[in-house]
Amino acid sequence: MKDVLQELEQRRDRAHAGGGAARVEKQHEKGKLTARERLEVLLDEGSFEEWDMFVEHDCDDFDMAAQRIPGDGVVTGWGTVNGRTVFVFSQDFTVFGGSLSGAHARKICKVMDQAMRVGAPVIGLNDSGGARIQEGVESLAGYADVFQRNVMASGVVPQLSVIMGPCAGGAVYSPAITDFIFMVRDTSYMFVTGPDVVKTVTHEEVTHEELGGATTHTAKSGVAARAFENDVEALLETRRFVDFLPLSNRQDPPRRPTADPVDRVEPSLDRLVPPDPAKPYDIVELIEKVADENEFFELQPDFAGNIVTGFGRMNGSTVGFVANQPMVLAGCLDIDSATKGARFVRFCDCFNIPIVTFVDVPGFLPGTAQEYGGIIRHGSKLLFAYAEATVPKVTVITRKAYGGAYDVMASKHLRGDLNYAWPSAEIAVMGPKGAVEIIFRQDKDDPARIAERTEEYRTKFASPFVAAQKGFIDDVIMPRNTRRRVCRALHMLASKKLENPPKKHDNIPL
Ligand code: HXC
Repeated sequence: MKDVLQELEQRRDRAHAGGGAARVEKQHEKGKLTARERLEVLLDEGSFEEWDMFVEHDCDDFDMAAQRIPGDGVVTGWGTVNGRTVFVFSQDFTVFGGSLSGAHARKICKVMDQAMRVGAPVIGLNDSGGARIQEGVESLAGYADVFQRNVMASGVVPQLSVIMGPCAGGAVYSPAITDFIFMVRDTSYMFVTGPDVVKTVTHEEVTHEELGGATTHTAKSGVAARAFENDVEALLETRRFVDFLPLSNRQDPPRRPTADPVDRVEPSLDRLVPPDPAKPYDIVELIEKVADENEFFELQPDFAGNIVTGFGRMNGSTVGFVANQPMVLAGCLDIDSATKGARFVRFCDCFNIPIVTFVDVPGFLPGTAQEYGGIIRHGSKLLFAYAEATVPKVTVITRKAYGGAYDVMASKHLRGDLNYAWPSAEIAVMGPKGAVEIIFRQDKDDPARIAERTEEYRTKFASPFVAAQKGFIDDVIMPRNTRRRVCRALHMLASKKLENPPKKHDNIPL
């Protein structure tokens, strides 16, 4: 028995040593933690149960028979985040550069399969040179096995990817299918083809960082939801993020007791909307002032800033906030913001998370760039996402709700459950000035008449009351009472039942 115990210890030590001290040192020199160190930060202390520590690759080509390292470049298993189960895999760059072999892929598939059966999120910590070059098609098959599981898990359990090193080639598509990608600044990058191939094909000279670093993907491409300064910050923020998520689509969003009163009044909100309708204000201030303890986990803050998305809690329960941001493009909807908003709304709907929408939208962004880029196709995504969503939907119009954008932003007509407006709301086909320029074109040379008509239009439509008279707005509420009214609405809606017609799946415009 003693010998067996000793052997177990030795085998464990070998697995824990990964690619050896020199490679671990190199990893640390780059400012990166090792795969196991990362899991220690991510998971509750002592909660990690490792699986398949002794799995080795089965490749004999290219001298690989002599190079078998237990674990084969990925640490897998499950643990807890603040007591709630999560399944994890953490690629070990010190072992064959974290490259994905058949055995490595099977380990990832095993945790994904179990996560699906148990109903718990999968968090992947990616740090990999891609397909294990020595294994060829075996590795490609392994990727496809993971992709297939990513797709099957989509909408069943939340899937998070934290990119903490290289992630290149087709390997990017597993994180791409997951719900959220977080990146680490300066040490992580993602691209389909690297700088060398880009140079050969398009003659563009570009660095790894410029092509696929955290700034590129959080600000330009919209691929990543957030970027963090280092491994520790990324992992701690991932923990905070997981706290907002239900474990699966079979569960309600988590509840966390709060000392923040549901009827907290915020008098400053009465002054949030400036008297001048052309003046912007920060919609994030509204979200923070109504959310429990002013906590808001914003997603994609540097991408399509004209729409704000993220999680907070109302009376202890997670809600998804979507809001037009008057500070960016006056809050207009465009291709990127519609896509960003739609994906977020669909995530919330998959996972039973109520959606609170704050509306201040002057319309869709005009211009050839938008039309040629397919604003018709992309803009419809947000409309589609809101229309199909069956979770509780509470909408508050703070100022402008013009034209088609009024319809899109969780209006009553798209099965909004509770639609409120502040007294400052203007609900119309378009702004008074534009409207008068069209319908009273004959008066265009008479400024006094135009001013009179504009005022007439403003009085008629630039208020919430016409919409309220028709029942499209359930109530006009005081801004200071927004938290109380939204909390009460969500409480009432907790038992909401609504189902879409049976179908194989819908055909959202892609
Ligand atoms: C096998 C690999 C590997 C790989 C790295 N290594 N990538 N082994 N297969 N794909 C090994 C290296 O041989 C080295 O081993 C160790 O990992 C560390 O690599 P270094 O090159 O020393 O590290 P660094 O300088 O930091 O460079 C990292 C890197 C580079 C940029 C990722 O290693 C690299 O370019 N690797 C190849 C990337 C690639 O072309 N992958 C295939 C992409 S195609 P030793 O023993 O020296 O420590 C793909 C298709 C997926 O992934 C398709 C899915 C559908």
